[in-house]
Amino acid sequence: MTLKGKTAVITGAGQGIGAAIAAKLANEGAQVAALDLNLEQAQSVIRNLDGDHAAYACNVSQSADVIKAIRAARETFGRLDFAVNCAGIGQAKGDGSDKFYAAMNARNAQLAAGETPTTFVDHLIHMEDDGWAGVMAVNLNGAFYVCREAVRIMAEDERAGSIVNISSTSAQSGEGSPHYVTSKSALIGLTRQLARELAPRGIRVNAVAPGPTNTPIMHGLPQEWITSMEQSVPLGRMAEPSEVAGAVSYLLSDDASFVTGSVLVANGGSYCF
Ligand SMILES: NC(=O)c1ccc[n+]([C@@H]2O[C@H](COP(=O)([O-])OP(=O)(O)OC[C@H]3O[C@@H](n4cnc5c(N)ncnc54)[C@H](O)[C@@H]3O)[C@@H](O)[C@H]2O)c1
Repeated sequence: MTLKGKTAVITGAGQGIGAAIAAKLANEGAQVAALDLNLEQAQSVIRNLDGDHAAYACNVSQSADVIKAIRAARETFGRLDFAVNCAGIGQAKGDGSDKFYAAMNARNAQLAAGETPTTFVDHLIHMEDDGWAGVMAVNLNGAFYVCREAVRIMAEDERAGSIVNISSTSAQSGEGSPHYVTSKSALIGLTRQLARELAPRGIRVNAVAPGPTNTPIMHGLPQEWITSMEQSVPLGRMAEPSEVAGAVSYLLSDDASFVTGSVLVANGGSYCF
């Protein structure tokens, strides 16, 4: 148990990678504060874990929500050692995803028919301001709000700590939509800046960049997309959420005591940072 006696706040812990991180950290002895937009899902995740854990409703794009939930977790457990920014979205209303997917389907149909594709798979030109801001608000602003509040508490308590931000391989490859790729790239910038600023306090900040991972976000995609995604991974498959959780647990633990500002890739060899 490498995390025994520590308390971790995890955002997006209601399902997928966040739920797997909650399970892994609990197995390693940590007390988990599971934050999610969907309180019922977060509650159901912690109900299945051994030990002392709590769930909180929190929309990470709202700083007041973040402050309230993280303060409540500190109140409940009496300390805060870790924060994991896992809440993330790939689409938002007004981001032109419908037109993008329609164009991609039309192009794929042309290719399947042996035709030379004439359809441009545009995303940028269909992106409204709200759509762009919606993804940034969760993926980037949310992580900033969580880092800020966690560090405020660690500083008040004069306690060292460790933070992990869940980025994505798309930050390296550029694959994906404009707002998503930009938000995940910016998270790496935030990680590097905070690692340097917070090192004197003994607070380490790292990122994990997963490749395609078998979570509910993937379940709505057409099978041919999944197959082609898996074929592009040298290890020949998607990651399981527990494999990403293992990387997070390592970075939080004392095994990574001299690691800060790094990006640990968990992508089956697709891209190297
Ligand atoms: N699944 C993948 O292939 C993959 C690959 C690379 C990176 N990632 C990143 O990993 C993270 C988790 O991905 P996942 O596949 O488990 O996603 P998911 O959609 O399965 O789960 C995301 C969770 O975040 C919660 N959430 C969404 N918006 C929120 C908000 N505003 N406030 C609080 N909670 C919110 C959801 O309720 C959900 O429980 C995301 O940041 C994602 O970008 C995923």
